[in-house]
Amino acid sequence: MSEHIPTRRAVKAVIPAAGLATRFLPATKAVPKELLPVVDRPVLQYIVEEAAAAGIRDILLITGRGKTSMVDHFDRQPYLEQRLKEKGDIERLAAVREPAELAEIYTCRQAEPLGLGHAVSYAESHVGGEPFAVLLGDEFMDEEDPLLPAMLDLQAREGGIVLAFIEVPREEVKRYGIASVEPTGTPDVVRVTGLVEKPDPAETPSNLAVVGRYILPAGIFDAVRRIKPGSGGELQLTDAMALMLEEGAPVHGIVYRGVRYDTGLPLGYLQAVVQLACKRPDLGPEFSQWLADFVREG
Ligand code: G1P
Repeated sequence: MSEHIPTRRAVKAVIPAAGLATRFLPATKAVPKELLPVVDRPVLQYIVEEAAAAGIRDILLITGRGKTSMVDHFDRQPYLEQRLKEKGDIERLAAVREPAELAEIYTCRQAEPLGLGHAVSYAESHVGGEPFAVLLGDEFMDEEDPLLPAMLDLQAREGGIVLAFIEVPREEVKRYGIASVEPTGTPDVVRVTGLVEKPDPAETPSNLAVVGRYILPAGIFDAVRRIKPGSGGELQLTDAMALMLEEGAPVHGIVYRGVRYDTGLPLGYLQAVVQLACKRPDLGPEFSQWLADFVREG
């Protein structure tokens, strides 16, 4: 299996962000869900910050129609910057510049939303035969408890595919890719023996759910070409990974014990806003106090 052992850590990431976000309509009719604010930064900025903090500064954003404003967020804004400079608002000036300084953003359009595997396959020429990270555009991890560096290190050591898991209640397995695993001897690092997309709770092999962080070898592109539409009639990334696993690629996973913010559903989005607002040094103390009073008084 020596073809699966890479020589260097992945340095590029792909963020699939072409979805229609029907769960957030009408808010997402003209605003991409990836730009919904969590306190005062859009979701997508947290994701790009997570990649940058792990040393990834080359990011390919897979976009769709009506979503070009995502790219504008990572561009400079000379007029706005000039106005803030004139006013001496140094703090806001830095905040406006920060997204453009985080990473190099490249884009590519997914012409039709045919599934996550299909979206990722657009990255083939950009990643150029090297392993790469995939970060889904609606979830991010606690910055104080990073996940990506450990995944990148594991992939550089073991090759193949590296996934991350959380334990979910059995009735929630139908929202996720689910893995069967065996221990490796290292706590919270597992060897994956099977993968299935959105199983029925009665037939699930476990309650270990794949979260939206993947380190993939370039072989995934060929695997996507060889799968048929799966769950929801879409070309599923999980099915392409399962095919590589079946054909002998090593697949490892890290069980993540930190806080994962899932902004893909209104409830998770609201939870993320409240949790991160409470953590903010400037807003947190006052907001937490108000929240406690509000909850107590109903
Ligand atoms: C996607 C993947 C699924 C994974 C999930 C994580 O599903 O297909 O395997 O568990 O992301 O959030 P989606 O949420 O796009 O339906």
